[in-house]
Amino acid sequence: MTLSRDTVDLSCTIAGVRFPLCLMNASGALCVTRAELEALGRSRAGAIVTKSMTLEARAGNPEPRYYPFAGGSINSMGLPNLGYRAYAELIPTLKGFGKPVVASVAGLCEDDFREIARTISKAGPDLIEVNLSCPNLPGKPQIGYDFEASERLIRSVRAVVDCPMGVKLPPYFDPAHHAAMAEVLKRAPVDFLSLINSVGNALVIDPDRESVVIKPVALANVRAFWKAFDGRIPIIGVGGVVSGTDAFEHLLAGASVVQIGTALVEEGPKVFDRIAGELQAVLQKKGYPSATAAVGRLKEL
Ligand code: SIN
Repeated sequence: MTLSRDTVDLSCTIAGVRFPLCLMNASGALCVTRAELEALGRSRAGAIVTKSMTLEARAGNPEPRYYPFAGGSINSMGLPNLGYRAYAELIPTLKGFGKPVVASVAGLCEDDFREIARTISKAGPDLIEVNLSCPNLPGKPQIGYDFEASERLIRSVRAVVDCPMGVKLPPYFDPAHHAAMAEVLKRAPVDFLSLINSVGNALVIDPDRESVVIKPVALANVRAFWKAFDGRIPIIGVGGVVSGTDAFEHLLAGASVVQIGTALVEEGPKVFDRIAGELQAVLQKKGYPSATAAVGRLKEL
């Protein structure tokens, strides 16, 4: 059977929220300012994801703090953002674009997360993503590697939010960490997972010998949590998506939605048109009627 391009359905649903396209920006990529967020609203992106917001506005770490290479980037941004009050004011406007708004929440201590989540929830985002995994705050280890603190924080934030809530996790490199976090999430459930945040402590030495750092790690984490939950928790795949084939690989590994970071920064919001077209073509060639039909379909050896 030959499917026409338009018959491949690229929409998806996460925690009851429908996304018109299973591609969106990764938090951090061109989503700090009002102008950037509105540009995402006007683009083909399936959602608008805000930069992770902190209590107070932050300028972030000193430059240079971002380095792109083939297939990904490394960064030490340090959560530059407008502060949560500004995003709370912006969310009603962003919702006018008629696509889901995802508020990404961070904090410099556990109390910050709760305070921000309580206020931002009242502004009416469709989903809240709790960022447990910023690797770029000097003196502040990532919460996602402290399983007790993660559980405490999830419970504390969950108690003050009204909309579906998920967590953005760090890359784990040891199956024992996947298992430990999966246990936490079974005791303190969330509605979705965003996998993965930036690979911290990374070093690119020679730009002429480019290497793909983030994608294999992201795919391994998506697959590990897909298996840990038997595919029963929606996953947002983040890392190394520069083509429709990359997005397809995330779907196969178990992601329902795929976020785009470096490629968005490099190409601007028109990247969603290009990658959506490529994903359509890949899914059509493979005979999938929809993006959803490909989710988790990786054949294990
Ligand atoms: C940053 O340091 O701002 C990027 C990583 C993150 O968003 O957690």
